[in-house]
Amino acid sequence: MNGEREGSGWWKITDVRVIDPYRQRAWQGDVLVGQGRFQDLAASADAPESVSGRGLWLVPRLLDMHVHLRSPGQEWKEDLASGSAAAAHGGFAAVMTMPNTDPVVDVPSLVSWQIAEGRRIGLVDVLPAGAVTKASGGQELAELWKMEKAGAVGFSDDGRPVADGGLMRAALSYSATLAGPIVQHAEDVTLSGRGVMHEGEVSGRLGLAGVPGEAEAVMVWRDVQLAALTDGRLHVAHVSTPGALEAIQWAKAHGLRVTAEVTPHHLFFTDERVAELAFSPVTKVNPPLRPESYRQVLLQAMKSGLIDAIASDHAPHHADEKDLPYKDAPFGISSLETAVAAVLTVGLDELAMDPLTLLVRMTAAPHRILGLSYQGLVPGESADFALIDPDARLPVDPGKWYSQARETPWQGVALRGQVVATMLRGRWAMREGEVLTCGLR
Ligand code: DOR
Repeated sequence: MNGEREGSGWWKITDVRVIDPYRQRAWQGDVLVGQGRFQDLAASADAPESVSGRGLWLVPRLLDMHVHLRSPGQEWKEDLASGSAAAAHGGFAAVMTMPNTDPVVDVPSLVSWQIAEGRRIGLVDVLPAGAVTKASGGQELAELWKMEKAGAVGFSDDGRPVADGGLMRAALSYSATLAGPIVQHAEDVTLSGRGVMHEGEVSGRLGLAGVPGEAEAVMVWRDVQLAALTDGRLHVAHVSTPGALEAIQWAKAHGLRVTAEVTPHHLFFTDERVAELAFSPVTKVNPPLRPESYRQVLLQAMKSGLIDAIASDHAPHHADEKDLPYKDAPFGISSLETAVAAVLTVGLDELAMDPLTLLVRMTAAPHRILGLSYQGLVPGESADFALIDPDARLPVDPGKWYSQARETPWQGVALRGQVVATMLRGRWAMREGEVLTCGLR
């Protein structure tokens, strides 16, 4: 297998549909890759090895800007090797990792360690987010600037909000001098309390404690006011409510530096899925799955671009943890390996979006939000891309996943689109469902 990875280093992908969301162009042709870079996009030259791209899309460098890879310290859930393999299997060349590990990634040495480990594994670019506050404790700011120097591309206490308004103001003020944004998990925990699913008709029927949508909306309204006060860079993680979207719309209308992401599971599922799966905690996630009326608003906001990016919020947990009673199980859905197909299903089939507009939310937009300069399909740029069969229709089979976490609300759901290969820096990270590093499974 390693032999195949090394090869000559020159590949020609022939007769492929090239989708370039970075420049909003698409064409049919050949792409030549060599020495780790895109070489020739008209591809008149030959390469010793070629791959037929017939029927496939070539999409440059998908970046998932919200994943939990759990290392250091929670390797029974996921680790950097299994999480990197899951990312490559899912079509991603880069991921931003959330710092709610043990210890929390709140110092430069941990940022450097995650980057080095990611490089050693070599399947995906691991781009760490550093914590906003020390130990994500919400008491004292962490060393944002030093973590950025070590390679952090954003800052977040994700899993919990930066609840203290004064600290959030300070963090946003600092962010005006940083390349990466403050990524807020927007939740007023005094409102969400012990809630385990969305507060509404379904939670009432099931007798489960609810989280009102307002728990998210009030925090986003506070944060956009603070973004205005500081001229800071605010990114709202996993937005899931119409109230939060109104705040984001207000912020954008006032020219503030505010961006937002949505997850595939909030675009696809509703809180009815909790009832359908009969209290299985595979549907337990924070923010919770929302009602259909919310989902419709999220879909339109994703389509219009009010929501800039789509990010998986891959949040793996051990099977034993997800086997607890609903109220006791941890929040989180393992989603790196369903994200692309879920997005294609919603975007192409349900919303009839064109692929360029849809895929910009998983490519150019997250790079822009994180201040990264990747240019996509230009000669000399790093050859990072996915080959996707947009017409495959398959039921989700977690038995084929590389993530350690395979308990999922996606089990058996028929989705459109299959990632068939992922290339990172001119080397195959995954081909035909197989991640090309020995010993990872
Ligand atoms: O469902 C979630 N799981 N939401 C979060 O914000 C954190 C995440 C986790 O770390 O498990």
